[in-house]
Amino acid sequence: GKNVGILAMDIYFPPTCIQQEVLEAHDGASKGKYTIGLGQDCMAFCTEVEDVISMSLTVVTSLFEKYGIDPKQIGRLEVGSETVIDKSKSIKTFLMQIFEKSGNTDIEGVDSTNACYGGTAALFNCVNWVESSSWDGRYGLVVCTDSAVYAEGPARPTGGAAAIAILIGPDAPISFESKIRGSHMAHVYDFYKPNLASEYPVVDGKLSQTCYLIALDSCYKQLCNKYEKLKGKQFSLSDAEYFVFHSPYNKLVQKSFSRLLYGDFLRNASSIDEVAKEKLGPFSTLSGDESYQSRDLEKVTQQLAKPLYDAKVQPTTLLPKQVGNMYTASLYAAFASLIHNKHSTLAGKRVLLFSYGSGSTATMFSLQFREGQHPFSLSNIATVMDVTRKLKSRHEFPPEKFVETMKLMEHRYGAKDFVTSKDISLLSPGTYYLTEVDSMYRRFYAKK
Ligand code: ACO
Repeated sequence: GKNVGILAMDIYFPPTCIQQEVLEAHDGASKGKYTIGLGQDCMAFCTEVEDVISMSLTVVTSLFEKYGIDPKQIGRLEVGSETVIDKSKSIKTFLMQIFEKSGNTDIEGVDSTNACYGGTAALFNCVNWVESSSWDGRYGLVVCTDSAVYAEGPARPTGGAAAIAILIGPDAPISFESKIRGSHMAHVYDFYKPNLASEYPVVDGKLSQTCYLIALDSCYKQLCNKYEKLKGKQFSLSDAEYFVFHSPYNKLVQKSFSRLLYGDFLRNASSIDEVAKEKLGPFSTLSGDESYQSRDLEKVTQQLAKPLYDAKVQPTTLLPKQVGNMYTASLYAAFASLIHNKHSTLAGKRVLLFSYGSGSTATMFSLQFREGQHPFSLSNIATVMDVTRKLKSRHEFPPEKFVETMKLMEHRYGAKDFVTSKDISLLSPGTYYLTEVDSMYRRFYAKK
């Protein structure tokens, strides 16, 4: 197949959320820390009736209905997630309930896990399959599903929850420029989940920020090198219309984009004008380590990058700011925001995506847009995702109720032999929900 890539997408996030301004006051943080300091507006979370399995059942069913896809048309299903519900049985096998009903059990693929990177691994697997000699002509389907929850403390406001489904095939409106890609993989302990009895990660916040930026710099450098070898000219920020980042919180995205501008400066790229050269001059001799520590460099680059950030990054930030870190779904929710905001002007444009999973694994890669044909057109993807309605129809929890929910979820994690309240009043019709976990830890779901 030619132009293999993304044919269709849909996103689901829980209707339950808390305003960051409210959480900030409740936590006794200084005013503006979560909203301006982290750059976040609101945070979605699962209540006891939802989890990563129910969210993925919901989003896959919705994608099939809205694009008129028969489950028989899927030949590969790959799930990316870092929310462990079972150490052996994959989330993919839960999703097989949808396919078994239609008589299709001939579907390759399982789950991929490494922090927030699993969704990208799943995506690459599906694209590679469609491009390979084992492709049987059917679609690939990628599902990214996560519930990001942190213990009480400074990381708690950087949670979130969502599931995204991405349909893969040839002649796509969003295709991969597979040669323009750079990865960075290393052994670091920045964020990990060694305590199997808890859903919460062990996280070194400061280290995780630096590891993210180190991986970003390294991927960008690799990507630029490959582009230059391939095209015989330099790559710089002006060669992509938009930049989409894995978004743990928006402030890190702002810092990341300005870091790329600094990268262009160090490589002496033509995109850097005289004013920028002069302002960045004093920082040209910093060592890598020094550059990650320098507040002055951060300030100057952020100032210089502001107009470019507004044009090339801001349109990607809606869902990550409104929903929070969705782990594997975070990058693709940022990408969904771009389609939501700019679908009518994207054709012919290039976008770079940066995927980061702690531990660490990271890839920067390039996608190209074209108009596409109904139902696989950019405008139809925006219509189907219906982001504005989904954001508007949410229910804001007061902080006490949010904390209470987190406590209940702590007890429920890894537990057996319980039924849920089955209070589904806040869920939209068509949403799957958890009804029971029996004495054998088997999980049961129903559809509203
Ligand atoms: N008004 C405006 N800004 C404020 C205010 C205020 N009242 N108070 C603080 N700030 C700013 C700070 O200056 C800081 O900004 P800066 O980074 O530009 O200096 C920002 O708000 C955050 O404040 P910190 O004191 O640095 O926050 P803290 O260390 O308490 O927690 C952190 C932030 C580390 C991100 C924490 O939430 C965390 O550990 N999150 C999880 C880890 C994570 O998401 N890492 C990202 C990559 S790995 C991954 O994706 C999971």
